[in-house]
Amino acid sequence: MEFSTLLFAIENGTAIITINRPDKMNALNKDVIADLSSAMDEVYTNADIQSVILTGAGPKAFVAGADISEFLSLDAAGGAELARKGQEEVFNKIENCPKPVVAAVNGFALGGGCELAMSCHFRLASDNAKFGQPEVNLGLIPGYGGTQRLTALVGKGRAMELCMTSQMADANEALRIGLVNHVTTQEELLPRTKEIMNTINSKAPLALAKVIDCINHAGTADGYATEITRFGECFATDDMREGVGAFMEKRKAVFTGK
Ligand code: COA
Repeated sequence: MEFSTLLFAIENGTAIITINRPDKMNALNKDVIADLSSAMDEVYTNADIQSVILTGAGPKAFVAGADISEFLSLDAAGGAELARKGQEEVFNKIENCPKPVVAAVNGFALGGGCELAMSCHFRLASDNAKFGQPEVNLGLIPGYGGTQRLTALVGKGRAMELCMTSQMADANEALRIGLVNHVTTQEELLPRTKEIMNTINSKAPLALAKVIDCINHAGTADGYATEITRFGECFATDDMREGVGAFMEKRKAVFTGK
């Protein structure tokens, strides 16, 4: 697929989506949001895509936030609409994607960039990565889900401090507080992320979708009930017959996603 602000490639079943505005630190302007929305539609519908890696172009930034140059023309309704549209068309679409979506954070992940990484199912970072929610420096607050997802990932106290001070967490601090799962060198970031996706791509696709749905319901009133329902649904899949059958027959399972 061709996009004006993204690179989009499929390798071994993994779509690699690279936000490609390196001269503007890959900031999320309207065009990037529209392209990310279309790219995620392609991920949802293209049967050749099993999983996604989201990363940024260039050596400095994953995404340095929403595009600040678009802010001064907005009033209260316009600001709310910017946040609502972005959340609905990109951030929630990523979080609720039935295929695993992982962020490979290759530099600054600030504001909307930190929020974009947090909407992914998990995150790896290179050792030059820096995370932060610096919106209060601009008289703003996070608007793409940051107050909610950061709190879920690192806890209320740390989320409050990060959003109140605007201080950046470097990659090792992000690892320590649970914002990222792994830290690599810059060179190793994509190879390591692809290695993890290759492992995930070998698993039962419908089961992966159900894991995502259940974990997204964790902490909600119907979390346990969702798990019971999804667990039951697995028994109606060919993949469950194949996975359990292959184990019993001491052979490798071949999943079809049915
Ligand atoms: N929106 C729009 N443009 C941005 C941007 C953003 N969020 N972040 C960076 N840019 C642009 C800069 O304006 C600059 O453009 P120019 O070359 O046309 O002047 C270019 O990207 C390079 O950024 P620069 O600030 O010169 O790089 P740096 O290495 O000195 O600093 C950052 C990097 C990320 C620390 C700094 O750009 C920054 O603080 N960005 C804003 C982060 C932020 O507040 N994000 C939350 C937004 S709600």
